[in-house]
Amino acid sequence: MKISVVGTGYVGLVSGTCFAETGVNVTCVDINERKVEMLKEGHIPIYEPGLEDIYKKNVEKGRLVFTTNLEESLKDSDAVFIAVGTPPDEDGSADLKYVIGVAREIGRTMDHYMVVVTKSTVPVGTSVKVKNAVLEELEKRGEKVPFDVASNPEFLKEGSAVDDFLKPDRIVIGTDSEKAQKVMKRLYKPFLLNGHPILFMDITSSEMTKYAANSMLATKISFINDIANLCEIVGADVDSVRKGIGSDVRIGTKFIYPGTGYGGSCFPKDVQALIRTADENGYSLEILKAVESVNYRQKEVLYGKIKRHFNGDLKGKKFAVWGLAFKPKTDDMREAPSLVIIDKLLEEGAKVIAYDPVASEEGKRILGDKIEFAKDEYDACIDSDALVLVTEWPEFRLPNFRVLRKLLKNNLIFDGRNIYDPEELNEMGFTYYAIGRKP
Ligand code: UGA
Repeated sequence: MKISVVGTGYVGLVSGTCFAETGVNVTCVDINERKVEMLKEGHIPIYEPGLEDIYKKNVEKGRLVFTTNLEESLKDSDAVFIAVGTPPDEDGSADLKYVIGVAREIGRTMDHYMVVVTKSTVPVGTSVKVKNAVLEELEKRGEKVPFDVASNPEFLKEGSAVDDFLKPDRIVIGTDSEKAQKVMKRLYKPFLLNGHPILFMDITSSEMTKYAANSMLATKISFINDIANLCEIVGADVDSVRKGIGSDVRIGTKFIYPGTGYGGSCFPKDVQALIRTADENGYSLEILKAVESVNYRQKEVLYGKIKRHFNGDLKGKKFAVWGLAFKPKTDDMREAPSLVIIDKLLEEGAKVIAYDPVASEEGKRILGDKIEFAKDEYDACIDSDALVLVTEWPEFRLPNFRVLRKLLKNNLIFDGRNIYDPEELNEMGFTYYAIGRKP
């Protein structure tokens, strides 16, 4: 089989590379010439564990190629996946100009049957717009090339995207065409040998599934963050409560870790988009509105603890921030809680020195010389007043606390991810603040 994947961003690159891994011939298309040149020369523009190995292997085998020429790539393709960005436009809604632009170009150039698949996260109703855009262009040409559209939302997590793609929990396909179903089934079968399902449904339900999934996950996080804050007030320990509720299989142990609020390019954007879709349709999603406001507040909880500890006077104090990325195993800092915490500290006249195992470069790009960057986690602590842990990278889990005691001015740790044991830290002489835990 042969497919084209348009857009070599996060989703496009991971999807294209993983499809190639099954033996499919994949052409990845991007309008950004520099990016395509980079990819042709063997450089991957994103950090994603495991991606580089399978990318190199499949490029060597000639199954994975890169081009700026969409028309050329469509020749012999059974399906074309649209995986371009949908940046928020001025009023915050997803800007579909790239998605529709690609659909138009497909309509202008396709010469045989193919399935046009929307893989970008797009608002409910977009696949119909994609279909109409292709049709309009075909009409302009006065030609009747057959095609079908499908919606195939992506459920990848940054940091484990390759694994998620190769071993998905489920594949969701929205289409009203049996022919398209057959093509999609053939493409995805190799990934479903683990027995996990491919779920066919109508296009609108498929588009809705993506938003409902992310909104449900965001709800779990805001819920446990709200409970964590209450635990602190009433003297309970959210870590016990988390385990206590999570062992009920209906609730489950996954994705109920309290912290500094959810970030990233997906949850904040998708929760907002679903609220907007509902509003536009005359319905108010009350739960999601609360999820959003709890998350907004949560990003400031750790900072609040710091400010209270120092009786509101942070001027001239220096803080070692461990972790900048919105979560471990990525260099992505979009909507990262670290940015809110750092901004607040700087506003109060404090100094910040940060370290992130992967995202320091991204941090320098975003924050410039507003803060200092340390060469490692210990370097950040030298003469700092306190350690502020924001992202739970594995290498932060078991630091040498004796060394930290010597480096930090005060034996003070603010842990936004509850990765240390309060009792142990207190025994070692640290003052330890976490989220929703007993001191
Ligand atoms: C999320 C979804 O998990 C994916 O299924 C989805 O495909 C993706 O969005 C997308 O729409 O593209 P991602 O944004 O990569 O994936 O990150 P997650 O691992 O879901 O984490 C999101 C945020 O929630 C992070 O800031 C993380 O620290 C936070 N989180 C997660 C918690 O605070 N507590 C938890 O228990 C879990």
